Amino acid sequence: MIVLEVKNLQYYYQDGRKKRIILDNVNAEFETGKFYAILGESGSGKTTFLSLISSLDTPQSGEILFRGKDIKDIGYERYRRNHISMVFQNYNLIQYMTAAENVLVSMGITDNRIEGNKKETAYKLLEDVGIDKETADRRVNRLSGGEQQRTAIARALSTNSEIIMADEPTGNLDHETSGEIIDLLMNLAHERDKCVIVVTHDLSIAGKSDVILQLDTKKKAFTIYN
Ligand SMILES: Nc1ncnc2c1ncn2[C@@H]1O[C@H](COP(=O)(O)OP(=O)(O)OP(=O)(O)O)[C@@H](O)[C@H]1O
Ligand SMILES: [Mg+2]
Repeated sequence: MIVLEVKNLQYYYQDGRKKRIILDNVNAEFETGKFYAILGESGSGKTTFLSLISSLDTPQSGEILFRGKDIKDIGYERYRRNHISMVFQNYNLIQYMTAAENVLVSMGITDNRIEGNKKETAYKLLEDVGIDKETADRRVNRLSGGEQQRTAIARALSTNSEIIMADEPTGNLDHETSGEIIDLLMNLAHERDKCVIVVTHDLSIAGKSDVILQLDTKKKAFTIYN
């Protein structure tokens, strides 16, 4: 099912008198249950694209539709609280809190229904991504990079959002840990029916994806490989 649709997106910024176009007439659609890899040279606009579809920034023209409805009409903040989750290269967890507390904080922000006891659900989600109870009760600054990224993925799951976006989620991890994190994210698409959108420079990740969106620097739009 199509959950997110991007139509004729244009994004530019003003450089003195010059208009610098980053994304031009970009079209794409994203379904639940699929893993998408966004590739492209450094500076091609991948992070910009993610910031537009996560409504952290707004395009000059074009539409972003969540389940057929313009996110402008849903309300940007509401869309962010309830329908998307982000995973970052540097994890972006609250360092002085435990892993479990980080997951609980995020549950407190969404309007989505969370089944059962929140604390138990938080531990369960962490366990699902390979964080045991003892580790879940440690402060985040005492966790390894891989453990922090697992925690960030549990946090992304905690709001029950349909879409999970990640900007170079394995950029700070070693090869083996990267593989484990990507397998986890792929599982979320294939086993939990999430729409997972990952920006990466890693071609081995791209090779395992359901769909590759290659951001072409000249065209300033995607070439899509299914
Ligand atoms: N508001 C803005 N003002 C100035 N420059 C901007 C603005 N928004 C984007 N850019 C520029 O747009 C280009 C695309 O940036 P973006 O961060 O999206 O690239 P990227 O594909 O994510 O690159 P990387 O792979 O290095 O992370 C860059 O040259 C960036 O400096
Ligand atoms: Mg980037």
